[in-house]
Amino acid sequence: MIKVGFYQFCPTFGDVRANLHKIAEAIETTKADILVLPELCTTGYLFTSRDEVAKLAEPIPGPTTLFLENVARRKNMWLVLGMAERDEVSKKFYNSAVLIGPDGLKAVYRKAHLFFEEKLYFAPGDTPFRVYDLGVARVGMLVCFDHFFPEATRTLALQGAQIICHPSNLVLPGKGQQITRVRAMENRIFWVLANRCGTEERNGKKLTYTGASQIIAPDGEIVAQAPPDEESLQIVEISPAQADDKHVTAMNDLFRDRRPELYEK
Ligand code: ACM
Repeated sequence: MIKVGFYQFCPTFGDVRANLHKIAEAIETTKADILVLPELCTTGYLFTSRDEVAKLAEPIPGPTTLFLENVARRKNMWLVLGMAERDEVSKKFYNSAVLIGPDGLKAVYRKAHLFFEEKLYFAPGDTPFRVYDLGVARVGMLVCFDHFFPEATRTLALQGAQIICHPSNLVLPGKGQQITRVRAMENRIFWVLANRCGTEERNGKKLTYTGASQIIAPDGEIVAQAPPDEESLQIVEISPAQADDKHVTAMNDLFRDRRPELYEK
């Protein structure tokens, strides 16, 4: 059994230092193997210009990942979180997720499917969907709107992912929570959805985030759920190997029963 969880919180827009200290403080009293945090959780989400992104995005590795590497090392924990990335070569910005463990930065995933005005500020991701064996579990990363594209989850599940770590800033009430539950069920995998809560109001724009972060088991059961509008850190014990069994009935293995020859045009 391993301990996995989410930290649903309300980042302060533009205050990376304060957000990082809040994260570190929450983790300080937490025991977990894998903890997932929201999308863009070190900067806030509601950017209203490219200049704002340019001011707050960081290279990876960079100061934010170095800070969190120290936290992960001290706590012997894996962290998955969303942050704004600046590619120093291409000068593009990405809405990225990082996987950081006791030995440092392990992987970066750049959000493939950009949502709404993210398209004005970020480049679509160019990192393939990949599964990482952490020893405690095999994990894949998706960022928020990626869950609307079943191919993304399926790609990770077919590579052997046992847990999807899903930093999010969901804004369509109830939708993401339902979709991720179905994705977990149709792939028989665990799912840790780390959503944020609260409202951001900036330069005439306003977004309210739907909270209700959740951990879903491979049979679709909700094993942990946060309230919609409060900060919440929850940890549960799971057995990742449960996700290796794809049977729905004694005669139905979800992966062996696939008919890819009929799916191609
Ligand atoms: C989203 O992709 N942040 C809804």
